[in-house]
Amino acid sequence: MNNQLIIVLLFSALSSFGQTQRITSPGGTVIMEFTLNNDGRPFYNVSYKNKEVIKNSALGIQFADGGIINNLEVASLDTCLINETWNPVLGEVKTIRNHYRQLVVKLIERGNVPKEMNIIFRVFDDGVGFRYEFPGQKNLSHFVVTEELTHFQLTGNHKAWWIPADYDTNEYPYTTSLLREVDGKKVSERHTEIGTRVVKDDSGVQTPLMMKTAEGIYINIHEAALVNYPAMQLHIDKSKNDLISRLVPDYTGNKAYLQTPFATPWRTIIISDKATEILSSKLILNLNEPSKIKDQNWIKPTKMVGIWWEMHIGTSTWDYAGTQDMHAYVETSKLKPSGKHGATTTNTKKYIDFAAKHGFDGVLVEGWNVGWEDWYGKWKEDVFDFITPYPDFDVKELNTYAAAKKVKLIMHHETSGSVTNYERWMDKAYDFMKKNGYDAVKTGYVGKIIPRGEHHDGQWMVNHYNRVAATTASNKIMVDMHEPVRPTGMHRTYPNWVANEAARGNEFNAWSIGNPPEHETILPFTRLMGGPMDYTPGIFQIKLDKYGKKDNYVHTTLAKQLALYVTMYSPLHMAADLPENYEAHPDAFKFIKDVAMDWDDSRILEAEPGDYITIARKVKRSKKWFVGAITDENRRTAIVPFDFLDKGINYVVTIYRDGDDAHWDKNPMSYKIEKYQVDAGTVLKVLLAEGGGFAASIVPATQNNIKNVKKYE
Ligand code: NOJ
Ligand code: CA
Repeated sequence: MNNQLIIVLLFSALSSFGQTQRITSPGGTVIMEFTLNNDGRPFYNVSYKNKEVIKNSALGIQFADGGIINNLEVASLDTCLINETWNPVLGEVKTIRNHYRQLVVKLIERGNVPKEMNIIFRVFDDGVGFRYEFPGQKNLSHFVVTEELTHFQLTGNHKAWWIPADYDTNEYPYTTSLLREVDGKKVSERHTEIGTRVVKDDSGVQTPLMMKTAEGIYINIHEAALVNYPAMQLHIDKSKNDLISRLVPDYTGNKAYLQTPFATPWRTIIISDKATEILSSKLILNLNEPSKIKDQNWIKPTKMVGIWWEMHIGTSTWDYAGTQDMHAYVETSKLKPSGKHGATTTNTKKYIDFAAKHGFDGVLVEGWNVGWEDWYGKWKEDVFDFITPYPDFDVKELNTYAAAKKVKLIMHHETSGSVTNYERWMDKAYDFMKKNGYDAVKTGYVGKIIPRGEHHDGQWMVNHYNRVAATTASNKIMVDMHEPVRPTGMHRTYPNWVANEAARGNEFNAWSIGNPPEHETILPFTRLMGGPMDYTPGIFQIKLDKYGKKDNYVHTTLAKQLALYVTMYSPLHMAADLPENYEAHPDAFKFIKDVAMDWDDSRILEAEPGDYITIARKVKRSKKWFVGAITDENRRTAIVPFDFLDKGINYVVTIYRDGDDAHWDKNPMSYKIEKYQVDAGTVLKVLLAEGGGFAASIVPATQNNIKNVKKYE
């Protein structure tokens, strides 16, 4: 008889009402308790290092015709301990340990038409995941979910980093406030630049929600494996410090249409007394299904440049006629080229040359296909067909040209929110890509969704994003989605889903009030908890008055733009600025050329949400390391012990830091590059300017690279 079985028997003997089932994480730090109250309603609570984190909180799901909430009894309890490892295809570390204790509570309704529901809890040393499961059963087949009634009752009015509970966009700056001060209306009204804003609950927030208790415990609430279900938002019951799940509805107000057997996404609570451990948690990835893709050698890290920033700063246009005419449809044959079109054959060749010269994998080209005169704001069904280029963009010629230079063209599919149209074109569009040498696509969902009344974060759209991940996978295409629902670790299951935007990217600095200097210190604790982000870093020409944009600029120093390649994990990154701006700073550009995007190991060295982050990462199958450190609007000294390096080996570090007089607002482009000999005993101290950062590469010393390089003291 094995241990697992002994535990199962023990629990069945305890399964009467009112009994508390207690599950302890493998290392004992996290304890979860499950009970049924007198009404037969399930409750759970969570503690961390003997401190209560989630008070006794109710569980349950409401259906159009009732639901599974009260009147339940425990049919059986089952527990087991899992300790295994797995290797992500692309990732922050080579090997991930999945170590948890599981409790499966089988519940059955009392009464004449009893329904069955299981709640599965997994208790890790850094938190808890749980989901509702509805097995195939006689009395429950098709059902409609009208709300999920999961509570997360907190122990106090914690500090939170939040964005409002918007059904259609997550492209907000974060507000830091106590939970009771959350006011979605105030925030959403200020950000009118987001055209698709729909906020119904002013006391609601989106997840991942990052919080910190007065005692210094960090709590992150999100979800894992969002499949066939809407995104979960959290309504705050301010009188009780209670967070209550609210699912994003469809146009009828319903939340999900389901059929048994079905399991909801996992609700995740990551807990630590160290902010660094929140960032290194693999709980969400562990709760996702293993890769569905067997042959994975076509999934590669992708560093790209592209015809992109020039449209955002307005020096060229997506559309051929240069009208950006949002009001009148003009037939393509009647359009006159404006001379400002970005995606021309000539311009694309220039970018291919640049990519080839500097070792980039790809060139993204936006605005290559007809429809951009008419794409935005009209809620129109058939804007793009995804296969018809503008007359000045020669797909065949460019494919041959790029192939000869060993550079990949990266496809762009802006759906303008018309998803029914995209679904009609998808197969043909992917076929077109494969025939023309493209193996990665950036998709986009700007605007209101068609089918009209659906939301970006509802069940229908969640199914769409997952369908795109699966269909691109079967075509061996990597995908990077812009404006999708925020990720939930599904890149484990579809490793070809290499990145998402799903938050406020660097582009906002080009045409809005921008992203405050603290923005990039919050994103890893919120949006990136669910997966990699295509943030589009690497802007060197920080002030945009050079392009006639007096009010717009990037709210960081140049050195911080470099650090983002390390602090903002993604296997797909863009060097977003114009080639000429890189050519003006070849020494700083070297960092972007060198930096890796796939790692054997990652060490979160210092972190505090909203303040600073310092991360060191070891390159996959290499002895090289890269370091990135960023700060908010405050100056600080990053202290980086190099004890992660192999002992007894000398290395050369190249530091790309803020100039002594640098400042994100007053003097953002001042930077300095220094080289030193270092080893595992070195403790690096680097001053980060206001809104600044530093980046560093560390390579084993060779006779050549240490010539004239002094020791770091
Ligand atoms: C918004 C995306 O985030 C951006 O990257 C893209 O250039 C525009 N939409 C146009 O598709
Ligand atoms: Ca966007």
